[in-house]
Amino acid sequence: MSSPHTPASAFVARRHALAARLASPALFAAGLPTSRNYRANLYPFRAKSHFLYLVGESIPGAALLLAEGRATLFVMPEADGDALWHGPQPSMDALRERLAVDAVLPLDELNGALQKFGGKVATLPTEDAKSAAWLSERLGRTIGFSSGDKLGDEGLDVALAEAMIAQRLTHDEAAIEQLRAAARASARAHLAGMRATHPGGTEADVVGAMIGSLRREGLEDAYGPIVTVHGEILHNERHDGELAAGDLLLADVGGETPEGWAADITRVWPVSGTFSATQRAIYDVVLAAQRAAIDRVRKGVRYRAVHDTAKRVIVEGLRDLGIFRGEVDGLLARGAAAIFFPHGVGHLLGLDVHDMEDLGDRAGYAPGRTRSKEFGDCYLRLDRDLEPGMAVTIEPGFYQVPAILRDARYVGAVGEDLRRDVLAKYADVRGIRIEDDVLCTDGEPEVLTKSVPKEAPEVEAVMRG
Ligand code: GLY
Ligand code: MN
Repeated sequence: MSSPHTPASAFVARRHALAARLASPALFAAGLPTSRNYRANLYPFRAKSHFLYLVGESIPGAALLLAEGRATLFVMPEADGDALWHGPQPSMDALRERLAVDAVLPLDELNGALQKFGGKVATLPTEDAKSAAWLSERLGRTIGFSSGDKLGDEGLDVALAEAMIAQRLTHDEAAIEQLRAAARASARAHLAGMRATHPGGTEADVVGAMIGSLRREGLEDAYGPIVTVHGEILHNERHDGELAAGDLLLADVGGETPEGWAADITRVWPVSGTFSATQRAIYDVVLAAQRAAIDRVRKGVRYRAVHDTAKRVIVEGLRDLGIFRGEVDGLLARGAAAIFFPHGVGHLLGLDVHDMEDLGDRAGYAPGRTRSKEFGDCYLRLDRDLEPGMAVTIEPGFYQVPAILRDARYVGAVGEDLRRDVLAKYADVRGIRIEDDVLCTDGEPEVLTKSVPKEAPEVEAVMRG
């Protein structure tokens, strides 16, 4: 099954809509390929998402200039030997027609075109230093790049960043079709993963089956796949573990379509094919939190409130199991949720799996809102009021993280109301997260990834074959 192809007219509409929001010309770089070790041995190239949003194809080294009502694409001209090593290359005319831009020109004409605007060309920062240097050289000023979690605001054109965010926050029909396609293919990858799981097998068997399923359908992985029996390590990207009958396997795997649109799905399944009673009890708490949070993905609801819903249902559920003692409001106020659910309930989803995080919290946080300083809540990546057309993930979890459970900074306020004797009975539950991709609409939330089973008996039925 292949992903839908977005017609060129949709990209024209996006470029026009963006240009209408801009007061100055703007340049969008596709980025440069990265070498693994020597120049001819490159990592697969994937263009920057803002470029993909406006052009739809990953063209290494290309740049799109929106200026004076025209869209001009600058590309590296065909080099001697390209036809031999890489096959026939499209001519500039063919590209112009296919992409419905106003002109395609060789890259060495870019500097002249930029000079015409006398340093007034806006651009977006980029997360990689190499592309930032490329842009800085062309624009004659320093363009920042992200270091760690922090975006270098140097050279940031705030008006362009805000215009792009305003446009990409809510998805157009073509984008939604891409997200649906990514979700469907990623759902099939999860089914393949469940079927490839057997006691005595390995995490590598499962990740191989899942990525193989995506590749067969023409998708790449949208992020480093997490397939692990140590789900308590939140971004555990090792796949060298063995699968034992009593383990739970956590798989956080999503593909991206050839146009770059992502899915992000997490499921947890028992290696033996059957959840133990303790695994099932916690699994159902996380699932209840996930369902309650999904139900809140509605127009006008603040995402922070969706997060708070998940926290409350988790604390209630753990209190009902006897892991916490006391009343829920008091437990929440003392930070009980983050002991077992130490991350945000989800994030924006689009061309990036954490959409537009290259622009920092400017994208995820509404003006005037900032991240909480509280442990757990500080990892919430989104705090906007939801609007129809926004896609978000909903991914609460439960993890027994030794570094949290022994640290008074995190558990001290809950004290004896964390019943460690009861918790000890749940030692076979290291990490559970259940994640779906959800589109906010004018009415009911649309769960794009609903075809992946998540009720425990459904998961067990898939594993029985
Ligand atoms: N899928 C990984 C994450 O959401 O961080
Ligand atoms: Mn996610």
